[in-house]
Amino acid sequence: MPAPRTVLLTGAAGGLGTLMRSLLPEYGYTLRLFDVRPIEDAPEAITADLTDKEALREAVRGVDAVLHLAGISLEAPFEKILRSNIEGTYNLYEAARLEGVPRIVFASSNHAVGFTPAPRAGTPLDPSALIPIDTPHRPDTFYGLSKCFGEDLAQLYWDKHGLETVSVRIGSCFPEPTGVRMLSVWMSPADGARLFHAALTAEEVGHTVVHGSSANTRLWWDLTSARALGYEPQDDSEPYAEKLIAEQGELDPENPAHSHLGGHFVSDPPIWPY
Ligand SMILES: NC(=O)c1ccc[n+]([C@@H]2O[C@H](COP(=O)([O-])OP(=O)(O)OC[C@H]3O[C@@H](n4cnc5c(N)ncnc54)[C@H](O)[C@@H]3O)[C@@H](O)[C@H]2O)c1
Repeated sequence: MPAPRTVLLTGAAGGLGTLMRSLLPEYGYTLRLFDVRPIEDAPEAITADLTDKEALREAVRGVDAVLHLAGISLEAPFEKILRSNIEGTYNLYEAARLEGVPRIVFASSNHAVGFTPAPRAGTPLDPSALIPIDTPHRPDTFYGLSKCFGEDLAQLYWDKHGLETVSVRIGSCFPEPTGVRMLSVWMSPADGARLFHAALTAEEVGHTVVHGSSANTRLWWDLTSARALGYEPQDDSEPYAEKLIAEQGELDPENPAHSHLGGHFVSDPPIWPY
């Protein structure tokens, strides 16, 4: 696949979308922006919902790849998750298939495997204890379940239609880590841009699933499949550790919100549809 130049960025008005709007052009991309919310400083952005199939067809027409960040990014009632994350992601894949877009980079989440026990609280880990990328799906919410669906949808579209995807199980991508758990799953925005760039440009990815984080000292998961794409993380959350641990204390292995990959998503009360 020739290196993509024009990339559709869905979810461009969101937190991660805003970070990537400023970081990805440095890699030479021209971004086409899509979000249901208008973007004040980008009047050219496409303002449309993922349920609008015609708008999606037009949005993907002629792009070299899609970075699919749009969707509900926290737990919500099932009907809302169904509409934006499940049907919305299906609509995007169908539009990409019909318009011949060769690759999608899909923002999956650690919450697809949130009920996986964390390797061990705190300190640097023996590499053999890191969670492998082929750990079974264990969603912690309807939100996490929608990310499992997205990964399986990506696999189907690769096997059936030859549409490639890199599914990135993002940890937490914020300018700085804000909690002790986040020390283990943090992805700096600069590393996020490095990883998305690697996912957009690597040769022959088929459907590849990768963990999305920086090279944190307290890392919980294995980055081998991400590194195989050419990703070389440059950041580590450790400089933030002393202050965060002094404020919040070490993780408590007896607390389910501390001892699973998904953090408080595993212990928050469920949001049932009725
Ligand atoms: N930020 C993180 O640390 C993190 C971690 C794991 C996964 N992710 C995933 O990455 C993506 C971006 O995360 P974020 O933190 O920027 O979330 P966000 O909520 O800030 O942004 C999501 C964007 O998607 C848009 N959107 C939602 N439903 C839509 C629909 N039906 N049609 C069109 N647009 C719609 C929203 O308007 C919003 O601008 C999400 O898919 C999220 O699940 C993010």
